[in-house]
Amino acid sequence: MSDISHDAQELADSYDHISDSQFKRGVLLAKMMGIRAGDAVLDVGCGTGRLSMYLSTVLGPHGRVVGIDPSPYRIGVAGDKLKGLNDANVQFAIGSGERPGSFSAGTFDHVCYCSVFHWIDDKPTALASSYRLLKPGGKVGITTGDRENPSGVKRITNRLFTQTPYAGRVKTAEDASKPVTENELDTLLKDAGFEDIEIVKRTSKRYYSSPEEVFRFNEASSFGNFLRHVPESLRPQARADIADELEKCRTSDGIEIVTKTLYAIARKPA
Ligand SMILES: C[S@@+](CC[C@H](N)C(=O)[O-])C[C@H]1O[C@@H](n2cnc3c(N)ncnc32)[C@H](O)[C@@H]1O
Repeated sequence: MSDISHDAQELADSYDHISDSQFKRGVLLAKMMGIRAGDAVLDVGCGTGRLSMYLSTVLGPHGRVVGIDPSPYRIGVAGDKLKGLNDANVQFAIGSGERPGSFSAGTFDHVCYCSVFHWIDDKPTALASSYRLLKPGGKVGITTGDRENPSGVKRITNRLFTQTPYAGRVKTAEDASKPVTENELDTLLKDAGFEDIEIVKRTSKRYYSSPEEVFRFNEASSFGNFLRHVPESLRPQARADIADELEKCRTSDGIEIVTKTLYAIARKPA
């Protein structure tokens, strides 16, 4: 499991406010998966619960969604959204892709991983769990970064960290974010037993007023792992160098970050 020990209340609160891009991707994924009233959904890595809460309105009184996340801070923010709601068809619990919790096999119609899959270290184990928890004919849905088309800060650091003074000192293998390629994702899904695999790439743009705003987004989204693999002594310089590169992406609308996302949907055989 990726390291969630650096997460904090402040990062979880911040994420809840700055995660519109992830939320929009989740809503689109849910539509692509055909999630509908009455279904049972597992939202893996639900973060602060924005997508789960949206899904609860789609699923209606006869459906239900369970959001799981390894971060107690994020599950805390998500749980606060249930206060005062009676008969909520949504539930939040600590759990991860690799260790989702004690659900019976064949519990869910859908399992989604929205902006989560690249944070999962043991992807085969996570997909095997999803397969087990799905009903026959149920679907897994994933939105995740594309390693062949890195976006934003990742595109900048991939290049920067091959240069002096970073080369050989940045522990690239310890970067908490481990995106896959389209082919790798296809193979992972096939190996887990899924069929009818459909993977599409979508491009989106977001604008930021300053490099600091980009850093805040990355810190909150990575639950405190941003630049953690860079030696502490090099981090201030790394932030300054990344900020310079981000300024080169400034347009009249702000710093433009282009994100390429893989959307994958696959079915457990009926
Ligand atoms: C960028 S957030 C996405 C949150 C939410 N799905 C959304 O769309 O807004 C990534 C989330 O993945 C969670 N996470 C990290 N490692 C995980 C793992 N191994 N299994 C499941 N979730 C994990 C983090 O705690 C964090 O809440």
